[in-house]
Amino acid sequence: MTSLKALVLEQTRKYHREQEPGDFVPGVTPILSSGAVLDEDDRAAFVEAALDMRIAAGISARRFESAFAAYYKLRKAHLVNSGSSANLLALTALTSPKLGEARLRPGDEVITVAAGFPTTVNPILQNGLVPVFVDVELGTYNTTAERVAEAISPRTRAIMIAHTLGNPFPVAEIADLATEHDLFLVEDNCDAVGSTYRGKLTGTFGDLTTVSFYPAHHITAGEGGCVLTGSLELARIVESLRDWGRDCWCEPGTDNTCLKRFDYQMGTLPAGYDHKYVYSHVGYNLKATDPQAALVLSQLRRLPEFIETRRRNFRRLSEGLADLPGLLLPQATPDSDPSWFGFPISVLPEAPFTRQQLVARLEERKIGTRRLFAGNLTRHPAYQDVPCRIVGDLTNSDFVTEHTFWIGVYPGITLEMADFVIDTIRTFVTGRH
Ligand SMILES: Cc1ncc(COP(=O)(O)O)c(C=O)c1O
Repeated sequence: MTSLKALVLEQTRKYHREQEPGDFVPGVTPILSSGAVLDEDDRAAFVEAALDMRIAAGISARRFESAFAAYYKLRKAHLVNSGSSANLLALTALTSPKLGEARLRPGDEVITVAAGFPTTVNPILQNGLVPVFVDVELGTYNTTAERVAEAISPRTRAIMIAHTLGNPFPVAEIADLATEHDLFLVEDNCDAVGSTYRGKLTGTFGDLTTVSFYPAHHITAGEGGCVLTGSLELARIVESLRDWGRDCWCEPGTDNTCLKRFDYQMGTLPAGYDHKYVYSHVGYNLKATDPQAALVLSQLRRLPEFIETRRRNFRRLSEGLADLPGLLLPQATPDSDPSWFGFPISVLPEAPFTRQQLVARLEERKIGTRRLFAGNLTRHPAYQDVPCRIVGDLTNSDFVTEHTFWIGVYPGITLEMADFVIDTIRTFVTGRH
């Protein structure tokens, strides 16, 4: 490293230390529902990538992909520019002609959940497939294997579900159903990095799994996401779709990895057409850049600590609010140990106050609140006329739309802040009873 670069990085670290937030002032300092927790190493890693002008995906992207695949003990990870892109790639991969008869075709059904984030569902529609919506349980906010089993029809080809706010859905049972009925399973693990079900990481049960690195998530790249799989065949397809649809798998800036660059004959192209420019998928460009990769690679160091702090904050809130009437507190799915994304609370219809009133009090005291994303997605304007099937009723998804919100547990929340949140909610609820 040149001495000038070392100096810039040292000054970067110094600058970081100057930015440290001041003391927490209850009711004045915002307690965010989520946010990035960045240290001086993160800032230095990001700045170093910029100093090197690694402006496209490069060495940090490759390092991150292999470190993250190793974390999951999966064969391949592909870094992308968002969790939504990861979901789009994961589901689109299942439509690849490379899968032959196994591939999903327009009109095929994919079972999903009505209450959640829109881009878990959108790739189903974007690929001309039909979402089949099932309801969730209250408390866990996840669906059950029974609901999924009931939704399977002769047209069903895949299941794509998110682990809600980090709380695992019963993924082992749903993976068994998928095997039994020859269905693909995609785990949207965007909110659940580090969660386990029966002692095994979520994201390792399905054919493909996705992660988001938006600042709200467990580790961040700014904007970013990842697709992981244990299948080399699916990984090749994901990479092709991510990288313009090309058939070639050379890393950017390298040529002729296969030693047959000018020897193929594909499609109706002339023999020997440069393999770098042969397209086997109708693809996208969804790559992330190296400064993003350098940041998320640096964040990965702290993942175990982040997961532990999220669990600690969750426990503190659970214990502090346990005896309050009128509230339904979150419950971990049986057999799971969630790496929580947030702390969902439902205001029971019989409570002498409404969600709106409680949320207003929290926001007044600078405590950030969020909805359980879309609530019942089928009630949103964009989904009024989409082809879909609904199995059973969506009573609980409607309940979530009307009565549920969540507050933060992210590692930027200290125990002092969590206690202030508890005190605010306790004072509000006891004052109304
Ligand atoms: C469950 C779930 N899936 C997908 C996404 C999309 O991730 P991104 O914002 O990185 O596109 C989110 C975003 O929060 C999410 O919560």
